[in-house]
Amino acid sequence: MTEFHTSTAEGLISNFYNTYDLEEMAQKVMPKGAFGYVASGAGDMFTLRENIRSFEHKLIVPHALKDVEKPDVSTTFDGNQLTSPMIMAPIAAHKLANERGELASAEGVHRYNTIYSISSYSSFDLPDVTKALQGTPEWFQFYYSKDDGINRHIMDRVKEQGIKAIILTADATVSGNRETDARNGFTFPVGMPIVEEYLAQQTGESLKSIYGSAKQKLSTKDVENIASYSGLPVYVKGVESPEDVEPLLAAGASGIWVSNHGGRQLDSGPASFDSLSLISKAVDKRVPIVFDSGIRRGQHVFKALASGADLVAVGRPAIYGLALGGAIGVEQVFNQLTAELEIVMQLAGTQTIADIKNFDLRDNPYDPGVLSNDPARLKLY
Ligand code: FNR
Ligand code: LAC
Repeated sequence: MTEFHTSTAEGLISNFYNTYDLEEMAQKVMPKGAFGYVASGAGDMFTLRENIRSFEHKLIVPHALKDVEKPDVSTTFDGNQLTSPMIMAPIAAHKLANERGELASAEGVHRYNTIYSISSYSSFDLPDVTKALQGTPEWFQFYYSKDDGINRHIMDRVKEQGIKAIILTADATVSGNRETDARNGFTFPVGMPIVEEYLAQQTGESLKSIYGSAKQKLSTKDVENIASYSGLPVYVKGVESPEDVEPLLAAGASGIWVSNHGGRQLDSGPASFDSLSLISKAVDKRVPIVFDSGIRRGQHVFKALASGADLVAVGRPAIYGLALGGAIGVEQVFNQLTAELEIVMQLAGTQTIADIKNFDLRDNPYDPGVLSNDPARLKLY
């Protein structure tokens, strides 16, 4: 094992104007393999690109003279008062971005005050991350093992921490085709203590070998098993087809998480935003909907909420914030998206998050080939 050095940054990030800037800045402070792992996607990265572009398929047509002043982004979810509906997406191995890893990202999310999702592949163990969160609500993202004993042991530990929900990731039963990682010869240089029992080795493994040795096939029966053993709400993450909603709810899913894993798994699937309104229709308000994949702007958050999301998860931008500014950087990314969201709310004529949820977006009649975000930013890494 070669030594691994990444950013130790902690403090305000200067000279960034949007989350796209952060990606370019993070590339300069992270090792090549680590940055490639975070930034890239599967195959041709079609789905990764479309995730961001698809927000252009809908327009926010403003309402005039709506008496809006200082829009209120606060949200109550499951009895928790949150700063906004933006939450932290589960992301593996935060130590790739910053030496303080999840300890720093948890502190940042605590400072912002929203829900933190911890990955099974966290580079710090559950009690350390829970402590860093200081009572901020925490959800656990579960990569289910082939070994039921290990699954039960992990769920026992999750409950001991007072974690509020389990996220069952459905779209990653095998690793996506990550050519960037293969080209860079990327293997995990950091440990994954939560799942160390089911990984042969903690470090020096490629994602392919981790998936190969650890994962089992999944069915709706697993939702039932997790819900009944843990007694916790189960959110199924990676839902893109409206037809899947009914069987998932019948199996006891407490929430649907619309996501395509940030275009890292199935390439050629639809942009997550394009699936959201279809799934929202199928769910019909019976359970909450979480949305992710492509959130880079306040207007993306607005459009997702207007299309049926109750919560919106921030992924890569938060990790770039972590690389560039540690806990403060993570908080700053959430604040930046919040500031953008507030401007959009004010100009659209929406005072509250409830107003956004009742807002009708208009289909974009313009040339769908016109890109508003610069495709050069999504170059191969
Ligand atoms: C992820 N994602 C993810 N999802 C999950 O359920 N468990 C995990 O361990 C990880 N790990 C992970 C690592 C990295 C580096 C990334 C970028 C993503 C997917 C994540 O939760 C979310 O779905 C995507 O990040 C959303 O896409 P954007 O908005 O970040 O592009
Ligand atoms: C990833 C896994 C760990 O997307 O979910 O890399």
